[in-house]
Formats: sequence, structure tokens, C-alpha cells
Amino acid sequence: MIQIENLTKRYGSFTAVDDVTFTARPGRVTGFLGPNGAGKSTAMRMMCGLTPATSGTAHILGRPYRALPNPTTHVGVMIDASAQHAGRTGREVLTLAATLVGAGRGKVDEVLDRVGLSSREAERRVGNYSLGMRQRLGLGAALVGDPGVLILDEPANGLDPGGIHWMRELLRGYARDGGTVLLSSHLLSEVEQVADDLVLIGRGRIVAQGAKDELLAEAGVVVDATDRAALHAALERAGFAPVARPRGGFTATAQTAQIGELALAEGLVITDLGAAGGGLEEMFLSLTADDAREVAA
Ligand SMILES: Nc1ncnc2c1ncn2[C@@H]1O[C@H](COP(=O)(O)OP(=O)(O)OP(=O)(O)O)[C@@H](O)[C@H]1O
Ligand SMILES: [Mg+2]
Repeated sequence: MIQIENLTKRYGSFTAVDDVTFTARPGRVTGFLGPNGAGKSTAMRMMCGLTPATSGTAHILGRPYRALPNPTTHVGVMIDASAQHAGRTGREVLTLAATLVGAGRGKVDEVLDRVGLSSREAERRVGNYSLGMRQRLGLGAALVGDPGVLILDEPANGLDPGGIHWMRELLRGYARDGGTVLLSSHLLSEVEQVADDLVLIGRGRIVAQGAKDELLAEAGVVVDATDRAALHAALERAGFAPVARPRGGFTATAQTAQIGELALAEGLVITDLGAAGGGLEEMFLSLTADDAREVAA
């Protein structure tokens, strides 16, 4: 469990993190989303005691990070994957981390296997690692202490599609086993697949938060049918506020299951049904439009 309350960080007159409050719960993956410069890394640094907060609190398992006994056995942190010592090999980095938490040597091989680094790769110096390999190693270092909480800043950065899939499975499994996962990203497509809950941040402020499914439902669905006039009438009657789309079909404020029930009841043949406009991406852009540096045309 991570509880953030009124967390604020000011640098002079600039407010990087502005009164942020949210909770990341056990058994769930919480996606922390925002455009570049939104304040994600700054907030995560405060959670892990790397940067003092100007005001507000960040509690992990009921205490500030710095008050946790042997914190790496409770919280796995990956804030800056390039921070690992470039002259050490991957194996050395993990061996050090394992020693710090009092884990045996077998732990290092277990973790290497878990993060998909071969023993040959583990003998290479970190300075020669690709970005994706560094992310895997950073995640490995976070996992060494078998923590119940993971705080990961842009963990999918630099991973290829196979790597992103692997990371997603790992984090989902981790949450399924009761772990708390908080991960940040500015790439919504990857978070949409892995997160249960979402916290959207723009210019230091939270612009939306909640269960992903509910947030997506608010963004509505796109639906089309063989008989568009009948579909439109049915959507109107159900109060789903249909709006015609330029390329056919409608957006409607409903969940996909509600549309399925409507189609069954009204005898409609649905030809297209999905989250509106590519899902979260559109919602994210609209929510943060004022905050983004570049607004997509
Ligand atoms: N030490 C500092 N001094 C002054 N300003 C800072 C400092 N650290 C961060 N900032 C500012 O705070 C804002 C938030 O930065 P932060 O790194 O938290 O954003 P982010 O959401 O992680 O962005 P990105 O997606 O690019 O990683 C930025 O405008 C940044 O310039
Ligand atoms: Mg960042």
C-alpha cells in the first residue's frame, strides 16, 4: 500500500508536484501517467525519500520510506535505470543488492532468470548494456529483496514489444500475488494493458484518477451496426448520448457490455465495438491538453 497525501514539491516559485493525493493498493497495478515534466519522477523521488517534500506525506506500508526497517525488503525501487555503476557487471550489481538484503547467492541467479538476462549478459559491464537490458537489471535489483511494493519510473522505457509484453506479465503476476505496483509512464498504450487503476497528472496536478475500467467507461465506446438508424435510435432511448463519427458509427457514453445487452434486446447486428478513439490515449490527451507541451493536432 502506498498512501500519498497532499504531496507538494516547490523549486523556488515553481511547483513541480502540486497537492497530489492518491493511494496505490495491494493486488493492483497503479499506472501513474502524465506528459513530460508533469512531475511523475519528482513525486516518486519523494515517495522513496530521495527528495524531501515541501509539504504533504508519502507513506509506504504505513510509514515514510525512511522509517521502514531494511526498506529494500519492503519496497523495490527503480527510479533511474542508468544510475547503476557502469563499470560493474550486471551480476555484480545484483550480488551487491542481494548482499544488502541478506539474500543468498542463489537469489542472484533466480532474479537474472526472472528478468530475462542470460548468464553471459550478466558478465558484461553495465556500461555496455542496451537501454532495455539496463531496465531489466534495474527491475532485478528492485526484486532482489522480495518486496511487497514496487515503485517503478518508466520501467518499459527502451523495451522492445516482446520486452513490454514480458514486463506486463511480470507486473500482473506480482500484483496477483498481492503486491502493490506503482509504475509511471508517458506511453499510455502500454499502461492501458497492465494497470488496474490510473492516476493522471499534468503540470504537477492530478487531473483524473480511478479504476481504469471506470475511467474508460467515462470516455465512452465506439459502436457501429448494420442498421445505423436503428442503432442511433436505440442508443438515444437508452440514454447513451450517441454522437455520429465522421467515418461512420457513433461514440456513446456506455460500457461495452451495456452495448452488447442493448444490441441483444433490440436485435441489432453490431459490426464494430470498442473503447472510444483508441482508448486511453484520447482520454489522456483531452484531460491533459492544457498541460501538454504539444497537443496532438
Ligand atoms: N531539482 C530540480 N530543480 C528545479 N526543477 C526541477 C528539479 N527537478 C525537477 N524539476 C522540474 O519539475 C518538473 C517535473 O519534473 P519530473 O522529472 O518530475 O517530470 P516527469 O513527469 O518525470 O517527466 P518525464 O516524463 O519527462 O520523465 C519539471 O518541470 C522539472 O524541470
Ligand atoms: Mg520522469
